[in-house]
Amino acid sequence: MSNKSKRSGSLFFRLAFRLALYSSMSVILILVLILNIVLSWPFQDSLLASISVGLLVFIVTYFFSWKFQHQRLETIYKISKNITRKKFEEYDEINTVNRDELDHLITQSIRASKTVEREIQRLNKIENYRKEFIGDISHELKTPIFAIQGFVETLLNGALEDKEVNRVFLNKAMRNINRLTFLTKDLMEISKLETGELKSSIQDLYLRNVILDVVESLQYKAQKENVQIQVNHIDKNLQVRADRNQIKQVLVNLIENGVKYNKPGGFVYIGVKDFPRNRNKVLLYVEDTGIGIEQPDLVRVTERFFRVDKSRSREKGGTGLGLSIVKHIIEAHGEKLFIESTVNKGTTFSFTLTRSGGEYMI
Ligand SMILES: Nc1ncnc2c1ncn2[C@@H]1O[C@H](COP(=O)(O)OP(=O)(O)OP(=O)(O)O)[C@@H](O)[C@H]1O
Ligand SMILES: [Mg+2]
Repeated sequence: MSNKSKRSGSLFFRLAFRLALYSSMSVILILVLILNIVLSWPFQDSLLASISVGLLVFIVTYFFSWKFQHQRLETIYKISKNITRKKFEEYDEINTVNRDELDHLITQSIRASKTVEREIQRLNKIENYRKEFIGDISHELKTPIFAIQGFVETLLNGALEDKEVNRVFLNKAMRNINRLTFLTKDLMEISKLETGELKSSIQDLYLRNVILDVVESLQYKAQKENVQIQVNHIDKNLQVRADRNQIKQVLVNLIENGVKYNKPGGFVYIGVKDFPRNRNKVLLYVEDTGIGIEQPDLVRVTERFFRVDKSRSREKGGTGLGLSIVKHIIEAHGEKLFIESTVNKGTTFSFTLTRSGGEYMI
């Protein structure tokens, strides 16, 4: 037996001893008074008889308090010692049938142990996430920073005087600065989403309006890439329950991808279908006629910083965070994301949204 458990054993022994001693002393005192004063026994006889009964009370009290309390106190001691040592066991086999104060204390200690365990796991998860995240960020920041450094150095070393190239270099540096700006914005967003800091504010939305707003804001980019965005027929009365800004963000990321990873003269179609598995939901799809994604990459595209073709994505200003943000937002809404793709034919991203009912009054 270790020193500590010896200490705990002697502590509990003393507790039972003290209880037995106080009970037997009280019994002796009361008995002496009754025998000697009330029943007029001689003092010595009264004392002897009382001590004998007191001894018996001592043994019985000591035995019962040992039997019924010692083990349970040991259990509480063990649980709290385990908490101190950050050791968490399953305590399912402990029974608390007596439902007295000690049993309540045991139940409470088990609860405390579980809470501390959960909290430690949560903090470890955040800590691991933080480490991984910082690793990823520094890796991603290096590329544009080195590029800017290279362009500025070349300019300082004489290219600034060369009218032919100075604008080109400045434009390239600017593109990398823009990339850094987008990267930091996306990083803030994803870190908030992944740590659960960003809360959704769910409201009833007219889905068609939201989609048309987003499409309008992306038309210019699409024209530049020679891609057409088409919104298929959507019932103007259709309302869904979602966070407006977050759903807009999802649409921006999906439509931007549809445009970016398309072919000149290609299309991006957006529309809404019934969701056969659940009549309370609809399926919003963003379908493109682009380069497609190979099957093994399909499961990885929503991973943070994953890009099928790093150079193509970088050239288009991509950081590999767009779909990861999409996935988090959809999951935070309790909805589902589906991806289907055929290489060289196109990709369809679709996700469910919950109908809210309500009729649109003009
Ligand atoms: N519609 C699509 N067609 C083909 N490939 C796609 C499509 N959407 C995404 N991908 C692939 O998945 C990768 C991850 O997409 P994601 O949107 O997360 O990042 P990104 O577009 O590279 O950067 P950004 O953070 O700017 O969105 C892309 O780099 C691309 O390779
Ligand atoms: Mg993207």
